[in-house]
Amino acid sequence: MKTINEISGNNPQKGRKTAVITGATSGIGKSFAYQLAQLGYDLIVTGRKQNLLNEISVDLENSYNVDVKVVIADLEKADDVKLLMEIMNQQESIDVLVNNAGFGLNEVFHEDKVENQLKMLQVHVVSTVLLIHKILPKMIKQRSGIIINVSSMAAYIPTSDNAMYTSTKSFLKNFTTSLNMELRQFEIYAQCLCPGFTYTDFHKKLGRNTKENGAKKTGWMTPNEVVTCSLKSVKYRKNLCIPGILNKLVVLLAILLPAGLINKISKLMSIKPNHFEVSMLKTQDNHACELNTVKNVRA
Ligand SMILES: NC(=O)c1ccc[n+]([C@@H]2O[C@H](COP(=O)([O-])OP(=O)(O)OC[C@H]3O[C@@H](n4cnc5c(N)ncnc54)[C@H](OP(=O)(O)O)[C@@H]3O)[C@@H](O)[C@H]2O)c1
Repeated sequence: MKTINEISGNNPQKGRKTAVITGATSGIGKSFAYQLAQLGYDLIVTGRKQNLLNEISVDLENSYNVDVKVVIADLEKADDVKLLMEIMNQQESIDVLVNNAGFGLNEVFHEDKVENQLKMLQVHVVSTVLLIHKILPKMIKQRSGIIINVSSMAAYIPTSDNAMYTSTKSFLKNFTTSLNMELRQFEIYAQCLCPGFTYTDFHKKLGRNTKENGAKKTGWMTPNEVVTCSLKSVKYRKNLCIPGILNKLVVLLAILLPAGLINKISKLMSIKPNHFEVSMLKTQDNHACELNTVKNVRA
C-alpha cells in the first residue's frame, strides 16, 4: 500500500509538493488544509474571506513550517476562477487538488431566481471542471497526482426541496468516478468524497441548528473525522469515500431499495423553510451570517 505522499509524488526530502484547496476558510476545507500541511505540503488556499484566510495561513506556516499562498476568489465569478487557474499554472507542480468550496440553499428551485440557482452550478460544477482541466497537463506530465472532489451523500438521494444541490453533487460523483477510470493510466487518482451531516458553517449559514439541546446529533461527524477518512481512502485508492458507518448504511439502502420508495421517504423527510427570522448568527470566524431560519417539516 502506497502512502499519500507516494501517490501524489510528495517527497519532503526532495523539495515539497503543493496542494490546492478551495473553500479553506472553514469546515471541511480548513481541515484539509491542516491535515495536508501536517503531511508537509505547501498550500494554495482559496475562499472569499481574506482576514480569515490570512489568519489560517499564518497559523499553518508557523505550526508546520510550510508555505501557504492565499488566493481570494469568489468561484461564482468567472474572472476569479480564471485568476486561480493562472496562479495554479504558474506553479511548477500541483500535486493535490481539493475541490471543496460549496454551499446550500434554502430556496426551492421553482420559487427562486434562476440566477441564484445557477451560482451553485458555477461553484460546485463549472469551477471544479475548469480547475481540474487546468491542472491535468501538469499531473499527466509528472505521472502522479490526487484530485479530491467534495460531493455529498445527497448525491445518492434526490430530494423535493434541494434539486440543484443533489444534482450538482450527483454530477461530481459520476464525473469523479469516470475521471478516476480515465486517469488511472497516468497514475492520477481521483476521489469523490461524500460526507453526511458534518459540523461546519454550512448549516449555520442556512440557519439550521446543528445540535439538539447542546448534544451531538446521531451520525453527525466533525470535519476532521471526514478529512481523516478521505485521506485514509487515498492510501487504498478508493474512488468513493463515504465517511461514517451510519452514512455508509444509508447510502447502501439508497442503492438497494427501489427508487420509488427512496423518493417517497426522502419527500417525507424534506424540510422547507416557511419564514425567515433575521438574526445575527456568528459563524466560527466572527463573520456575521444573517439568516436564522425557522423551519417547519413539509407536509
Ligand atoms: N457540512 C455538511 O454537512 C456537508 C455534508 C456534505 C457535503 N458537504 C460539502 O462540503 C463542502 C464544504 O462545506 P462545509 O460543510 O465545510 O461548509 P463551510 O464551513 O460553510 O465551508 C464552505 C467553504 O466553501 C467556500 N465557498 C462557498 N461559496 C464560495 C464561493 N462562491 N467562492 C469561493 N468559496 C466559496 C467558503 O469560503 P468563504 O466563506 O471564504 O466564502 C468556505 O470556505 C461543500 O462542498 C459542501 O457541499 C458538507
